[in-house]
Amino acid sequence: MSLLDALREAVGASNVLVDDDLKSSYETDWTGRFSGSACAVVRPADTAEVVAVIRACAAAGTPVVVQGGNTGLVGGGIPAGGEVLLSLTRLTDLGEIDPAAAQVTVGAGVNLSALQRHARSLGLDFGVDLAARDSATVGGLVATNAGGIRVLRYGSMRAQVVGAEAVLADGSVVSRLGGLAKDNTGYDLVSLLCGSEGTLGVLTRLRLRLVPQLRARAVALVALPDTATAVALLPALRGTLPDLVAAELFLPAGLALVRSYAGLPAPFAAEHPVYLVLECAGASDPTEQLVEAVAALPSLLDATVATDAAGQRALWAYREQHTEAIAAVGVPVKLDVSVPVGSLPELVDRLPDVVGTAAPGARLVVFGHVNEGNLHVNVLDAGDGAEKVTDAVLHLVADLAGSISSEHGVGRAKVPWLSLSRSATEIAAMRAVKNALDPAGLLNPGVLLP
Ligand code: MLT
Ligand code: ZN
Repeated sequence: MSLLDALREAVGASNVLVDDDLKSSYETDWTGRFSGSACAVVRPADTAEVVAVIRACAAAGTPVVVQGGNTGLVGGGIPAGGEVLLSLTRLTDLGEIDPAAAQVTVGAGVNLSALQRHARSLGLDFGVDLAARDSATVGGLVATNAGGIRVLRYGSMRAQVVGAEAVLADGSVVSRLGGLAKDNTGYDLVSLLCGSEGTLGVLTRLRLRLVPQLRARAVALVALPDTATAVALLPALRGTLPDLVAAELFLPAGLALVRSYAGLPAPFAAEHPVYLVLECAGASDPTEQLVEAVAALPSLLDATVATDAAGQRALWAYREQHTEAIAAVGVPVKLDVSVPVGSLPELVDRLPDVVGTAAPGARLVVFGHVNEGNLHVNVLDAGDGAEKVTDAVLHLVADLAGSISSEHGVGRAKVPWLSLSRSATEIAAMRAVKNALDPAGLLNPGVLLP
């Protein structure tokens, strides 16, 4: 039987896409930077169908690229050419919430918004949130160990995952969905799959921790003289704001792009060097707490606090619309890096020179998650200097003892630079794990490991 026939038998002919116009939305990433042709896009509906697809691909020796909501930013879910693209967006089971454990089991194709609505229907919430919530799937969020805007309070995706079901490269299924809060019986395979970028197994179901829904919110936008001040304020903010859930940074270049893209008014009468969005959320109204803490901030240039939902959305828009506003202008070189938080000001200060030297005339837009020292470095109009810019920025980050990927993953985009963040011994250990679980290199070849 041909591979296509085996795939049709596995998932039904209507879920094996081979026409170029049907495949195309899966074959290019959201920014338009990564593109590749799949021999077929296959859309299984459950774990048994994923097993059948993996077995068919293994028998044919055809590699598989795994894709969730296609919101990735490093090309990790985009084919290099000729693979079967396994789309998991039909795995949308929303299990019953266990209120005693505050946990739920969901399909890998459930998007973040649907999970949030599900949790909120019982007065609970999900700890991870990010701007791509309407498209990003839980499986993709786990596979990349996504971070987002609430890491300060709840940690990254790995901290939300209690269990997982995954199909391995030989078609066998690992299933740990029991939801035990304590379980020290050897290697933590679930945690290993988290952040493995589809290279070790195909996540099909996830057991997730839920948190109490915090309905009372207050959001402030504060203007500061520089990034060093923003970083210096962190201990005081964490100390005086027990309800702090987010501290997000952006700069004038990004604000200007967002304002022209979304038609937003200026937040303040004057332009300022650095902006921070602060959000507090609690069981009771955190407005007073936030207003007092902001008023006491040294070096404050300006501030505004929103207490109603519309005002809060308006302040968040300045930060959350950055990604779309940048993409509307062109295809950026997107680098997602982190440094020890104390080195964040040095990174921000040195970037313009480093980028300007690598790609004269390029436009730099940075923003990020200040508490984690995580900066999103976007470079527009780099022309043929894209690789030089990447190399220069990632070396700067390595010089500052940082990571070449803070939350987006390595994907295809950063494979050549992996050794800036991982020692030869670590890479050899990762390769040994990959070879043990996927000796034929069936899953996401060319992603994460060279
Ligand atoms: C964000 O924090 O908004 C995301 O990581 C997306 C991006 O970097 O563009
Ligand atoms: Zn981010």
